[in-house]
Amino acid sequence: MARLHHNETPAAPAAASGVPGARASLATVRAAALRCRACPLWATATQTVFGEGPEHAHDMLIGEQPGDNEDLQGHPFVGPAGKLLDRALAEAGIDRSTLYLTNTVKHFKYRLRGKRRLHARANAAEQAACRIWLDAELARVRPRRIVCLGSMAAQALFGRSFRLLRERGRWRELPGGARAFATVHPSYLLRLRDPAERERAYALFVTELASLAEPA
Ligand code: URA
Repeated sequence: MARLHHNETPAAPAAASGVPGARASLATVRAAALRCRACPLWATATQTVFGEGPEHAHDMLIGEQPGDNEDLQGHPFVGPAGKLLDRALAEAGIDRSTLYLTNTVKHFKYRLRGKRRLHARANAAEQAACRIWLDAELARVRPRRIVCLGSMAAQALFGRSFRLLRERGRWRELPGGARAFATVHPSYLLRLRDPAERERAYALFVTELASLAEPA
Protein backbone atom coordinates (compact mmCIF):
# COMPACT_ATOMS: atom_id res chain seq x y z
CA MET A 1 0.00 0.00 0.00
CA ALA A 2 1.32 3.44 -0.91
CA ARG A 3 2.57 5.38 2.09
CA LEU A 4 2.35 9.13 2.24
CA HIS A 5 5.09 11.39 3.37
CA HIS A 6 4.54 12.48 6.94
CA ASN A 7 3.36 15.98 6.10
CA GLU A 8 1.28 15.11 3.06
CA THR A 9 -2.47 15.19 3.50
CA PRO A 10 -4.10 11.83 2.87
CA ALA A 11 -7.06 11.52 0.56
CA ALA A 12 -10.44 11.92 2.23
CA PRO A 13 -11.10 8.83 4.35
CA ALA A 14 -12.49 6.14 2.08
CA ALA A 15 -15.84 4.60 3.02
CA ALA A 16 -15.33 5.30 6.70
CA SER A 17 -14.24 2.48 8.95
CA GLY A 18 -15.79 -0.76 7.78
CA VAL A 19 -16.43 -2.24 11.23
CA PRO A 20 -17.99 -5.69 10.69
CA GLY A 21 -21.42 -6.43 12.15
CA ALA A 22 -22.10 -7.46 15.72
CA ARG A 23 -21.88 -11.19 14.93
CA ALA A 24 -18.41 -10.99 13.40
CA SER A 25 -15.60 -12.62 15.33
CA LEU A 26 -12.72 -10.78 16.91
CA ALA A 27 -10.46 -12.12 14.14
CA THR A 28 -12.76 -10.61 11.51
CA VAL A 29 -12.81 -7.30 13.36
CA ARG A 30 -9.04 -7.33 13.61
CA ALA A 31 -8.71 -7.96 9.86
CA ALA A 32 -11.08 -5.06 9.14
CA ALA A 33 -9.18 -2.74 11.47
CA LEU A 34 -6.03 -3.33 9.42
CA ARG A 35 -7.77 -1.49 6.59
CA CYS A 36 -9.21 1.34 8.69
CA ARG A 37 -9.17 4.82 7.12
CA ALA A 38 -11.43 6.50 9.68
CA CYS A 39 -8.83 9.15 10.51
CA PRO A 40 -5.65 10.30 8.77
CA LEU A 41 -3.22 8.41 11.01
CA TRP A 42 -3.24 5.29 8.83
CA ALA A 43 -1.38 7.15 6.10
CA THR A 44 1.84 7.71 8.01
CA ALA A 45 1.79 4.70 10.30
CA THR A 46 3.31 1.39 9.27
CA GLN A 47 0.24 -0.61 10.28
CA THR A 48 -2.75 -0.84 12.59
CA VAL A 49 -1.74 -2.18 15.98
CA PHE A 50 -4.80 -4.08 17.15
CA GLY A 51 -5.30 -5.56 20.61
CA GLU A 52 -3.94 -8.98 21.50
CA GLY A 53 -4.66 -11.68 24.02
CA PRO A 54 -7.19 -14.42 24.71
CA GLU A 55 -10.48 -13.76 22.94
CA HIS A 56 -12.40 -14.11 26.21
CA ALA A 57 -9.83 -12.80 28.65
CA HIS A 58 -11.27 -11.90 32.05
CA ASP A 59 -9.05 -8.85 32.25
CA MET A 60 -8.37 -6.16 29.67
CA LEU A 61 -5.70 -3.46 29.82
CA ILE A 62 -6.24 -0.39 27.66
CA GLY A 63 -3.31 1.86 26.83
CA GLU A 64 -3.16 5.03 24.81
CA GLN A 65 -1.66 4.50 21.37
CA PRO A 66 1.16 2.48 19.83
CA GLY A 67 4.66 3.89 19.95
CA ASP A 68 7.50 3.57 17.48
CA ASN A 69 8.31 -0.06 18.36
CA GLU A 70 4.69 -1.14 18.35
CA ASP A 71 4.18 0.51 14.96
CA LEU A 72 7.12 -1.34 13.45
CA GLN A 73 6.37 -4.71 15.05
CA GLY A 74 2.57 -4.59 14.88
CA HIS A 75 2.00 -5.61 18.52
CA PRO A 76 0.87 -3.57 21.53
CA PHE A 77 3.24 -2.80 24.40
CA VAL A 78 6.48 -4.19 23.01
CA GLY A 79 8.63 -1.05 23.44
CA PRO A 80 10.13 0.49 26.61
CA ALA A 81 6.71 1.20 28.19
CA GLY A 82 5.69 -2.38 27.44
CA LYS A 83 8.84 -3.74 29.05
CA LEU A 84 8.13 -1.74 32.19
CA LEU A 85 4.54 -2.97 32.14
CA ASP A 86 5.79 -6.56 31.82
CA ARG A 87 8.03 -6.10 34.83
CA ALA A 88 5.24 -4.57 36.90
CA LEU A 89 2.79 -7.32 35.91
CA ALA A 90 5.33 -10.00 36.85
CA GLU A 91 5.93 -8.33 40.23
CA ALA A 92 2.17 -8.10 40.74
CA GLY A 93 1.87 -11.84 40.09
CA ILE A 94 0.00 -11.50 36.81
CA ASP A 95 0.73 -13.51 33.69
CA ARG A 96 0.60 -11.13 30.72
CA SER A 97 -0.52 -13.93 28.42
CA THR A 98 -3.84 -14.15 30.31
CA LEU A 99 -4.69 -10.49 29.56
CA TYR A 100 -6.17 -8.82 26.53
CA LEU A 101 -4.00 -5.78 25.85
CA THR A 102 -5.11 -3.01 23.58
CA ASN A 103 -4.94 0.71 22.96
CA THR A 104 -7.44 3.54 22.70
CA VAL A 105 -5.97 4.57 19.34
CA LYS A 106 -4.65 1.89 17.02
CA HIS A 107 -2.19 3.85 14.88
CA PHE A 108 1.14 5.44 15.80
CA LYS A 109 1.18 9.22 15.57
CA TYR A 110 4.46 11.06 15.40
CA ARG A 111 6.30 14.12 14.24
CA LEU A 112 9.67 13.94 12.58
CA ARG A 113 12.79 15.41 14.07
CA GLY A 114 15.37 14.69 11.43
CA LYS A 115 14.95 10.97 10.92
CA ARG A 116 13.57 10.34 14.39
CA ARG A 117 9.87 9.72 14.83
CA LEU A 118 8.80 11.47 18.00
CA HIS A 119 5.58 10.39 19.69
CA ALA A 120 2.67 12.82 19.22
CA ARG A 121 -0.59 12.47 21.14
CA ALA A 122 -3.62 11.54 19.06
CA ASN A 123 -6.11 14.41 19.15
CA ALA A 124 -9.76 14.23 20.18
CA ALA A 125 -11.00 13.62 16.62
CA GLU A 126 -8.52 10.77 16.11
CA GLN A 127 -9.44 9.25 19.46
CA ALA A 128 -13.13 9.51 18.60
CA ALA A 129 -12.62 7.97 15.15
CA CYS A 130 -10.82 4.99 16.67
CA ARG A 131 -13.46 4.38 19.31
CA ILE A 132 -15.32 1.99 17.02
CA TRP A 133 -12.49 -0.53 17.35
CA LEU A 134 -12.23 -0.34 21.11
CA ASP A 135 -16.00 -0.78 21.33
CA ALA A 136 -15.78 -3.76 18.98
CA GLU A 137 -13.08 -5.32 21.16
CA LEU A 138 -15.03 -4.70 24.38
CA ALA A 139 -18.17 -6.22 22.86
CA ARG A 140 -16.35 -9.41 21.85
CA VAL A 141 -13.88 -9.98 24.67
CA ARG A 142 -16.43 -8.95 27.31
CA PRO A 143 -13.82 -8.60 30.06
CA ARG A 144 -14.93 -8.70 33.68
CA ARG A 145 -12.27 -6.23 34.71
CA ILE A 146 -10.59 -3.40 32.83
CA VAL A 147 -7.58 -1.32 33.72
CA CYS A 148 -7.08 1.96 31.88
CA LEU A 149 -3.44 2.96 31.59
CA GLY A 150 -3.32 6.74 31.44
CA SER A 151 -5.90 9.45 31.03
CA MET A 152 -6.63 8.89 27.33
CA ALA A 153 -7.94 5.39 28.01
CA ALA A 154 -9.65 6.47 31.22
CA GLN A 155 -11.50 9.29 29.49
CA ALA A 156 -12.51 6.97 26.66
CA LEU A 157 -14.13 4.67 29.19
CA PHE A 158 -15.35 7.02 31.92
CA GLY A 159 -15.94 10.26 30.00
CA ARG A 160 -14.01 13.45 29.38
CA SER A 161 -14.51 14.76 32.90
CA PHE A 162 -12.49 11.91 34.43
CA ARG A 163 -9.43 13.17 36.31
CA LEU A 164 -6.71 10.58 36.77
CA LEU A 165 -4.93 12.18 39.71
CA ARG A 166 -8.17 12.43 41.66
CA GLU A 167 -9.66 9.06 40.82
CA ARG A 168 -6.85 6.65 40.03
CA GLY A 169 -7.09 3.18 41.50
CA ARG A 170 -10.81 3.45 42.28
CA TRP A 171 -12.98 0.68 40.89
CA ARG A 172 -16.11 1.71 39.02
CA GLU A 173 -18.93 -0.40 37.74
CA LEU A 174 -19.61 -0.06 34.00
CA PRO A 175 -22.94 -0.53 32.25
CA GLY A 176 -23.05 -4.24 31.48
CA GLY A 177 -21.43 -5.25 34.75
CA ALA A 178 -17.67 -5.07 34.12
CA ARG A 179 -15.58 -3.21 36.68
CA ALA A 180 -12.79 -0.83 35.75
CA PHE A 181 -10.24 1.49 37.24
CA ALA A 182 -7.55 3.76 35.86
CA THR A 183 -3.94 4.12 36.80
CA VAL A 184 -0.96 5.90 35.31
CA HIS A 185 0.55 4.96 32.00
CA PRO A 186 3.94 3.18 32.21
CA SER A 187 5.45 5.93 30.00
CA TYR A 188 4.68 8.38 32.79
CA LEU A 189 6.82 6.27 35.13
CA LEU A 190 9.62 6.21 32.56
CA ARG A 191 9.55 10.01 32.39
CA LEU A 192 9.94 10.57 36.14
CA ARG A 193 13.45 11.86 36.74
CA ASP A 194 13.70 11.68 40.52
CA PRO A 195 14.67 8.10 41.46
CA ALA A 196 12.84 8.15 44.81
CA GLU A 197 9.68 9.49 43.22
CA ARG A 198 9.94 6.97 40.38
CA GLU A 199 10.37 4.14 42.88
CA ARG A 200 7.32 5.26 44.87
CA ALA A 201 5.17 5.72 41.78
CA TYR A 202 6.23 2.35 40.39
CA ALA A 203 5.44 0.59 43.68
CA LEU A 204 1.95 2.10 43.71
CA PHE A 205 1.47 1.03 40.07
CA VAL A 206 2.41 -2.57 40.98
CA THR A 207 0.05 -2.51 43.97
CA GLU A 208 -2.81 -1.32 41.77
CA LEU A 209 -2.15 -3.96 39.13
CA ALA A 210 -1.98 -6.61 41.84
CA SER A 211 -5.74 -6.33 42.33
CA LEU A 212 -5.97 -8.30 39.06
CA ALA A 213 -4.12 -11.19 40.71
CA GLU A 214 -7.33 -11.97 42.63
CA PRO A 215 -9.84 -14.11 40.75
CA ALA A 216 -12.16 -12.01 38.54
N1 URA B 1 2.03 3.02 24.90
C1 URA B 1 0.74 2.62 24.76
O1 URA B 1 -0.18 3.26 25.28
N2 URA B 1 0.50 1.52 24.07
C2 URA B 1 1.44 0.81 23.50
O2 URA B 1 1.12 -0.20 22.87
C3 URA B 1 2.78 1.23 23.67
C4 URA B 1 3.04 2.34 24.36
